[in-house]
Amino acid sequence: MTARQIIIDTDPGQDDAVAILFALACPEALEVLGLTCVAGNVPLAMTTRNARKICELAGRSDLPVFAGCDRPLGRALITAEHVHGRSGLDGPDLPEPTMPLQDRHSVEFLIDTLRTRPSGTVTLVPIGPLTNIATAFQRAPDIIPRVQEIVLMGGAHAAHGNVTPAAEFNIHVDPEAAACVMASGAPITMLPLDVTHKALVTPSRNAAFHALGTPVGAAVGALTGFYERYHPERHGRDGAPLHDPCTIGWLLRPDLFTARRVNVEIETGSELTMGMTVVDWWGVTKRPANATFVHDIRAQDFFDLLTERLSRL
Ligand code: BDR
Ligand code: CA
Repeated sequence: MTARQIIIDTDPGQDDAVAILFALACPEALEVLGLTCVAGNVPLAMTTRNARKICELAGRSDLPVFAGCDRPLGRALITAEHVHGRSGLDGPDLPEPTMPLQDRHSVEFLIDTLRTRPSGTVTLVPIGPLTNIATAFQRAPDIIPRVQEIVLMGGAHAAHGNVTPAAEFNIHVDPEAAACVMASGAPITMLPLDVTHKALVTPSRNAAFHALGTPVGAAVGALTGFYERYHPERHGRDGAPLHDPCTIGWLLRPDLFTARRVNVEIETGSELTMGMTVVDWWGVTKRPANATFVHDIRAQDFFDLLTERLSRL
């Protein structure tokens, strides 16, 4: 089996960092062509720095990392330092990166890669706001039918919003970009809060990362440990949701998840529900399904897989 070619579009973020490490730990299944950074959890200058720190932690200073859009399509950037800390990657003490940032913009890299690789061979994995992807689609619509699949973290249905009562962070930050992507016609799999709120880093799962006894295990333990501090008081639960690595888990082992084909539309008009993912669960609108909506996970099997793969780095 040849490895599936992916581009991770990201705003690291502790959970983004774990997703990147997870993907890099599975070269037989996933060939990461590059990391395209976007503003989201923290401003672009931080996400590009954090992405390179993670590459160096994984021993992959050869991986191209690109800077992309520094703000949403049509509105001011909302960030999430209250969740991720001032750096976006608070927790471990990782050295300043020395590997370079690429000269090309993320959007150029996305367009060039989709145009030059055989059609239907490149999968996009957006785990931040969808600004880079939507900008690429608007600038070069010819690339849309060349996308193999978009496997994204974002949205919420029965789980409700995590940044407003109605909206999940990645969609809320740039709802116009999300609407553009959802309407693009590209095959889309969404991993929303409905599934990620079942992938909780409990103390024992966090201990399993530390028990790897490697620099990567220690860093992932510290990343998820920091991230965890925010959630119990908010959700009253045993551990924090590990959102973004669910995309990589889905690519590796879709049998660990449960999904449903549905129509998803994005609210871009109402201030009250801005960025809400309106999921037609029962097909009442008769609008055609535009997404595979993942809503359940065999969580312990997922964490066992993640921990085992991280042990390889
Ligand atoms: C999403 O928002 C960010 O804070 C996380 O990195 C994740 O991509 C969860 O709502
Ligand atoms: Ca993210």
